[in-house]
Amino acid sequence: TPILQVSNNGVGGFKLEENESHVKISDFPSGFLFGAATSAYQVEGAYLSDGKSLSNWDVFCHSVGCGENEENGDIADDHYHLFLKDIEMMHSLGLKAYRFSISWARILPRGKFGEVNPAGIMFYNKIIDNLILKGIEPFVTLFHEDFPQELEERYGSWLNPQMQEDFVHLAEICFNYFGDRVKYWITINEPRLFTDFAYETGIFPPARCSEPFGKCLNGDSDVEPIIPTQNGLIGLVAHCDMFEPLTNSKLDREAAKRAVLDPSIFGDYPEEMCEYLGNQLPVFSLEEKNFMKNSIDFIGINHYTTVYTKDCMDSSCTATGVRAIRGFLDTVGELANNDGFHLFHKKTGLEGIYVVPRGMEEIVDHIKIRYNNKPMFITENGYSSPDVYEEQVNEILNDVKRVDFHSKYIASLIKSIRKGADVRGYFVWSLMDSYEWLVGYNLRYGLYYVDRQTFKRIPKLSARWYKSFLTNNSNIL
Ligand code: NOJ
Repeated sequence: TPILQVSNNGVGGFKLEENESHVKISDFPSGFLFGAATSAYQVEGAYLSDGKSLSNWDVFCHSVGCGENEENGDIADDHYHLFLKDIEMMHSLGLKAYRFSISWARILPRGKFGEVNPAGIMFYNKIIDNLILKGIEPFVTLFHEDFPQELEERYGSWLNPQMQEDFVHLAEICFNYFGDRVKYWITINEPRLFTDFAYETGIFPPARCSEPFGKCLNGDSDVEPIIPTQNGLIGLVAHCDMFEPLTNSKLDREAAKRAVLDPSIFGDYPEEMCEYLGNQLPVFSLEEKNFMKNSIDFIGINHYTTVYTKDCMDSSCTATGVRAIRGFLDTVGELANNDGFHLFHKKTGLEGIYVVPRGMEEIVDHIKIRYNNKPMFITENGYSSPDVYEEQVNEILNDVKRVDFHSKYIASLIKSIRKGADVRGYFVWSLMDSYEWLVGYNLRYGLYYVDRQTFKRIPKLSARWYKSFLTNNSNIL
């Protein structure tokens, strides 16, 4: 039974804020890092070059097809070959930081069962060196959806605690090779969505639909904690939509509260989640709890939208299209008029993303209070219009709505910062249009358009706007 429903059906009506988008870069604290983000599978391509092995995504997309036209990340944006130009482009935009992820299968093609791939190390070394040369701070995500397929075939990947050992191995290799230059590390991107999609609903590879937690575990592990040998900061990136109660009832208000999770700061799941899921949840030993408590140096916030929550624990939920995430968090498929945009995709079940700039201020304020103002980075914030196709290139390039989106979300962010939130950076998702999980290349988040034939990157209006925001202290084009 669902205990929470999430929707944005216009009750109470989200309205775009009035023109609040006059914030300038000089309004931000000095040293604030404005950047853009990507991930390996979504941009690199070169899926079998120079010793890289097949990843879970390579195998999955080759077998079932991963987009409108059976697309996949085999070539993606060919960033593997074009990275120098891409770094040039970042520099010309005025980026102060770039967030990218490591392709595990490029660095350790066989995980801990094989050797380090020197070509993989060289590739990321070149990226890091060139970023630093241009004064761009590298933010490295160790795991962003893709891992060597061998780890799935050998022991069932993340359903087996052996995966933790493999992950620690990857982390150590990366710390050793890159830790002298990389100060910001992100362990896992959006762990909740990843586990849900890859092991619960099975829409992402390795496409497992697991029974209650723990059932698929086979074997114990004796994992040593990840201890960086350098002076870097380590965080994780959480998918942080904002939740608002659908009505003012106590039940809906409580439903909104329990939509946010907190083990890595408090060392355990929230009380309500334990109550509701009981023995379906893994139990942490005291040692594990202590190890987890305060184990991150910063919180990465991927914020895209705000949705309504409705209690389904004590009330009946009748909405159609309810998608249960472990029965704890549900989204409602009912969509109505909204001032934002709407996307729907039959394969991913992505239903709607609503433009609610004040959600940025609200989620940051919430996280500030709940986690005692731990340093935060907005590791992703982005806009994609509904599926659009190649013939509408002019429309794609003239992305007025994306400009409006970012300038309003940034304006909302500054409000939290003024109230004391320790936010240290903001990353646009994404630097350029890229492969969107399961959807393909027609769902675009980029500041740059990528011509799929020539791989030429063409600046959209939003790239020009960001550049003028970053380099001219202006918010008008
Ligand atoms: C979050 C994910 O980290 C990223 O990989 C994805 O492309 C964006 N959301 C947009 O869906």
